[in-house]
Amino acid sequence: MDAIRVRGARELRGSIRVGGAKNAALPILCATLLSDGESRLRNVPGLRDIQTTSELLRTLGRGVTVDIPEVRVQAPRGQVVPEAPYELVRQMRASVLVLGPLLARYGRAKVSLPGGCQIGARPVDQHLLGLEVLGAKIVVEHGFIVAEAPRLRGGEVVFDIPTVTGTENLMLAAALSNGQTTLVNCAREPEIEELGRVLNKMGARVEGAGTSIIHIHGADELEPFDHAIIADRIEAGTFMAAVGAAGGDVLLEHAPLDDLEPVIVKLRRVGLEIEREGEHARVRRLGPLHSADVTTAPHPGFPTDMQAQFMAMMCVAEGRSVVTETVFENRFMHVPELGRMGARIQIHNNTAIIDGVGRLSGASVMATDLRASASLVVAGLVSEGETIVRRVYHLDRGYEAIEKKLAGAGADVTRIQLESEPA
Ligand code: EPZ
Repeated sequence: MDAIRVRGARELRGSIRVGGAKNAALPILCATLLSDGESRLRNVPGLRDIQTTSELLRTLGRGVTVDIPEVRVQAPRGQVVPEAPYELVRQMRASVLVLGPLLARYGRAKVSLPGGCQIGARPVDQHLLGLEVLGAKIVVEHGFIVAEAPRLRGGEVVFDIPTVTGTENLMLAAALSNGQTTLVNCAREPEIEELGRVLNKMGARVEGAGTSIIHIHGADELEPFDHAIIADRIEAGTFMAAVGAAGGDVLLEHAPLDDLEPVIVKLRRVGLEIEREGEHARVRRLGPLHSADVTTAPHPGFPTDMQAQFMAMMCVAEGRSVVTETVFENRFMHVPELGRMGARIQIHNNTAIIDGVGRLSGASVMATDLRASASLVVAGLVSEGETIVRRVYHLDRGYEAIEKKLAGAGADVTRIQLESEPA
């Protein structure tokens, strides 16, 4: 069983390359289902979720060649059965993103209903309501979403809340629908803008991706594409938090600064210097680390996917900081583990109050979800002694070789083999 060992209390110095964005690559891989040609994705990160999505596309009749950082998706061979099995969907909730394209492309889709996960119930009601507006007949039975629509038609979908994959699923469906669709109260994340760029390359006409209102003129047929994925703002933000916690001076190659504004504002406030150097970013913390409050919110608010890493940094800041999580109802699973490392954190409903301590102490800790595991690695960098982060399969879902990247910047971080997992 893999684990990550961190021997802390060293400043970070050197350069780290930021890879392609997981949360852009997943919907774009699903977009390949909309065309019958060969599509090529470049700058794709080497992540477990990419493997899972590639496996899902293969079960849907696609030939997929994964040669990181490139993925090629070939045309379907033979009859396509538009069904996404429980075995794959349970590994990765984002598999629900095949629902829209399969329904639009084949008039039918059967997709295992994603269950809840560590960070919240995460229903998909908005996805289904939206597809029904476009004419789909949907039943949920035996743990599956079964959707039918001879041909989806354009319509106006008003989301109750801005949902990232909900917006993406409807964009994918509307791209091959008959007529124009307007999506209102959309999520505005940079990954949605990126999907809009790819759908436009395929021949759909998407306007307003990245804003709260998106117009999509559906096409009868869509072309394959060749596209290089944007850099991962959350991976870049995670490394910035690592520099914030440990101190030091790092060049973050390809850091997407424009997509990270809400995070950079807070990092500068707590004492980091973040400067653009061409298409890279110089990130330094040479002085004291101050405390600051954050409240997560949909983009352009402070991203919930940076909450845990920011909290880990605040554990060693001067003073008290308050972190409020408003997007997911159960995203403080990292708090008890940080507590095992000596952090002083009180939880009151969706608010965490952190009183900074000078230094944490290394311990064996358990990762519970992707970003929680990243926060434990960040905490390990500012701990006395050794930290062993277990269940790193969570980490591998969203970070490509994080231990090598941090070691490249002078950290003592290694992947080790553990005999077995404690019960
Ligand atoms: C996306 O998840 C990201 N995943 C998540 O990143 C990210 O945390 C989240 O957006 C918020 O930014 C991918 O892009 C693959 P939502 P998604 O639908 O789309 C509620 C990571 O660490 N909701 O925007 O599933 C939902 O429960 C992952 O990389 C409904 O109630 O998130 C949540 O409270 C974790 N009904 C809120 O909306 C719905 O139909 C926002 O969820 C859909 C969502």
